[in-house]
Amino acid sequence: MSDWYRDFANSGVGTTITRQLGLPRPAVLRRYEPGQPLLPGPAVVGSAGAGRLGNRLTALLRDAGVAVQSLGAADVEDGERPAAVLLDATGLTGPGDLAGVHAFLAPAVKRLRRSGRVLVLGDPPTGAESPAQAAARQALDGLVRSVAKELRDGSTANLLLVPARTEESLAGPVRFFLSGRSAYVDGQQVTLSGAAGDVAQDELRPLAGTVAVVTGAARGIGAAIARTLHRDGAVVVVVDLPSAGDHLAEVANGVRGTALQLDISREDAGQRIIDHAVQRHGRLDIVVHNAGITRDKLLVNMDPARWESVIGVNIAAQLRINETLLASEHFRTTPRIVSVASTSGIAGNRGQTNYAASKGGVMGMVRATAPLLGAHGGSINAVAPGFIETEMTARMPFATREVARRLNSLQQGGQPTDVAEAIAFLASDAAGGISGEVLRVCGQNLVGA
Ligand SMILES: NC(=O)c1ccc[n+]([C@@H]2O[C@H](COP(=O)([O-])OP(=O)(O)OC[C@H]3O[C@@H](n4cnc5c(N)ncnc54)[C@H](O)[C@@H]3O)[C@@H](O)[C@H]2O)c1
Repeated sequence: MSDWYRDFANSGVGTTITRQLGLPRPAVLRRYEPGQPLLPGPAVVGSAGAGRLGNRLTALLRDAGVAVQSLGAADVEDGERPAAVLLDATGLTGPGDLAGVHAFLAPAVKRLRRSGRVLVLGDPPTGAESPAQAAARQALDGLVRSVAKELRDGSTANLLLVPARTEESLAGPVRFFLSGRSAYVDGQQVTLSGAAGDVAQDELRPLAGTVAVVTGAARGIGAAIARTLHRDGAVVVVVDLPSAGDHLAEVANGVRGTALQLDISREDAGQRIIDHAVQRHGRLDIVVHNAGITRDKLLVNMDPARWESVIGVNIAAQLRINETLLASEHFRTTPRIVSVASTSGIAGNRGQTNYAASKGGVMGMVRATAPLLGAHGGSINAVAPGFIETEMTARMPFATREVARRLNSLQQGGQPTDVAEAIAFLASDAAGGISGEVLRVCGQNLVGA
């Protein structure tokens, strides 16, 4: 879907007018294209406190072909403008150490290019040795979210928490946050929980050799997920209702995969998915629970049918399918599940008690299922999209849509491909150190931020 205002704001006359009137100036975001360098310029790396990740960070950036500018705040003023600023803020002992965070970030961020990346690495506040240490660690969260709100021109800031013994899985998440794959991920926090992450040898096809199933793939975000997983090398099975059969066949042909017409709320849906994947493609590695519905009404006017259909499709079906997957011998080799939640499930939304309950449920399910998949070396995560430009949001009344799509730090709606890129990352071995997490793809939506 097009965003005429963003296009206008980036035209010659539009730039002048929006600047003079102080109107929002949404940037054209840097998005991933296969084969492009990880960053369009050098990265500046620094540390505050007794950081333990600096050398590792520098090495992994060099491995990824990134020029690392310098390690000291004093040198930041020289050289080419950085495309990324990375701060190792592990090892903080108390709020006094935050002065070092400020001293490094202020000059570095000032020189950041358009569509730049700020990535801060920290320790999780849980497990701190003292209240002062917990305070300093937690302070990073507020600080990074504020930096994200101050950045302009399509730049983002995110926080990666790296507990002890998860360092081995750092490379994949760092690359994701620096790349164009995370264009619409802003002001977020991800915690590593394992050391199983591994960057793919074949950078262009990180999902080569896998078979992935995507539900609700006949259109919208699901179709984008299918295309992105296919681009990344997976064999894709697309699933949707029989009534969406024609569109589903088109998507399946486009990704040279196969179509399975199936209502995911059927009792035997999990088994049908496994049987199709194994019989047609010989295996099953990745399941993306994307199918979802809305049946909006204020709580006081909500009839049981609206309530039950939304809970039934959006959460009960996922739970039942996961139970079948977990019991199957065909889903045992680094199995990966990614569920689509929603920022409504975090912040709540008027008229969406049923939908927000179902999406909150998805997040609870993901956290509780993580150890079960971990037993097979796998992972499960959720992605929570904010305002995404789809047929659903195109149907909103003009004024409501304009307000909703600008109410985030990037001042624009996300594209279905932004959600798909986050899902493709979470479905890959590069994200093997991440499980039980909810990643918002919402441009730092101000609602529930
Ligand atoms: N569009 C947004 O801004 C947005 C924001 C947050 C979350 N989401 C979530 O993203 C997901 C995709 O959203 P979308 O905007 O592409 O929606 P969409 O309505 O365009 O597509 C959903 C697809 O799911 C299919 N589906 C519905 N019920 C099904 C069932 N029982 N069995 C099999 N397939 C079924 C539909 O036929 C449709 O093709 C949903 O889970 C939605 O809740 C969307």
